[in-house]
Amino acid sequence: MKFYIKTFGCQMNERDSEKVQGILSNSGWSEALSPEEADLIVVNSCAVREKAEQKIYSEIGRIKNKNRKATVVAMGCVAQINPSKLKQVADVVVGTNTIDTFFNIAKNGARGVFIKENMDNPDYIFPHVENITAFVDIMYGCDNFCTYCIVPFTRGREISRKKESIIEEIKKLVDMGTKEVMLLGQNVNSYGKNFDYNFVELLYEVNKIEGLERIRFTTSHPKDFSKELIIAMRDLEKVCEHIHLPLQSGSNKILKLMRRRYTKEEYLEKVYLFKDIVKEGSITTDIIVGFPQETVEDFEETLRVVEEVKYDTSFSFKYSKRPYTKAKDMDGQVDEKEKLRRLNILQALQAEITQRRLNEYVGRVQEVLVEGVSKRGNQLFGRNRQNIVVNFDFMDNIKKGDIVRVEITKALKHSLLGKLSG
Ligand code: 5AD
Ligand code: SF4
Repeated sequence: MKFYIKTFGCQMNERDSEKVQGILSNSGWSEALSPEEADLIVVNSCAVREKAEQKIYSEIGRIKNKNRKATVVAMGCVAQINPSKLKQVADVVVGTNTIDTFFNIAKNGARGVFIKENMDNPDYIFPHVENITAFVDIMYGCDNFCTYCIVPFTRGREISRKKESIIEEIKKLVDMGTKEVMLLGQNVNSYGKNFDYNFVELLYEVNKIEGLERIRFTTSHPKDFSKELIIAMRDLEKVCEHIHLPLQSGSNKILKLMRRRYTKEEYLEKVYLFKDIVKEGSITTDIIVGFPQETVEDFEETLRVVEEVKYDTSFSFKYSKRPYTKAKDMDGQVDEKEKLRRLNILQALQAEITQRRLNEYVGRVQEVLVEGVSKRGNQLFGRNRQNIVVNFDFMDNIKKGDIVRVEITKALKHSLLGKLSG
């Protein structure tokens, strides 16, 4: 029996798809190269913006045109909030808290709708697929209820996984050849709220794991991002010098309407502390333009913060109305055309800053973890500690998983080129 998985959305969804891949492979299924060859087709959905939500419906339609015989499973965030609508087009609907359903799908062809508000056992260790870098969930859900965001409704209440379970999972990964882990949570800085240890203590434990080379984490909520964590990033040799710190807006008025619970000044203070303490630190962010009541002046404040922080990359989006959220009913919704105008301005500014930041690497030697052969097939690629992709020429003695020193010779649009340095 063969399966095919199509994944939309964030790293959590990628990890969830990998869990499904692992469960099915361990049950004797093999992966199909295309949906046409598959007996089971899984579509993992994202609900964060309306456009993303539409994709699961068009994808299922497309798949059915190619393969009428396969069983179709709709899973992920849209499945969690719209099960009845999806049941009309899919054979099975699996929410975000019921991934264990795939054990039954593999074993006895379970059919139906499987949704739970919360996960039965967040400490369960789902299988991984061999890889040099791996995603590890350290917590599920979100309790922040930012007024634009659907995630607290699609992923449920925040719950942390126990440290013992996380460590056991990472040790298993290292035995399989993993060198780098990305610890995942909607708000990793609030990890361990119900325990007597916090995220920094978790990092200290993970840092001790022998054979593991690098530790990354995402996402940090600016309100909870702490000096203690910044110091841990400086002191723990495996923790990479990169933070993803979503700004969302540079206007205090909009931040308040978004219910982000920090001001622009507090945000910048943390950025400067990070830049001061963590040498060669890299910062990336998420920004929403055209949130209700955002004026041109508010938007310009966002541009000023972007210029000031000099993000290596930013991911920016037009505000999109989401069900269940407060912001969808707010006055002062911004015109679509105006949102697009602002998005284009912001993205042009970021492209310029990204280019400047990448150029700064030229002539410098970077530590690169080799992940494999580049897309074009003519080079090897990996990432430096700041999470920037570096391509360099093949060498016979270098293989996946090695850590090499690469002298950067050129900055491309989103990546770096280099040559091995002695
Ligand atoms: N509209 C636009 N962007 C959104 N995001 C979350 N909700 C919305 C929305 N309703 C963005 C935020 C978040 C990222 C994952 O997606 O910037 O950080
Ligand atoms: Fe959404 Fe805010 Fe939670 Fe992030 S912190 S998932 S933006 S509600």
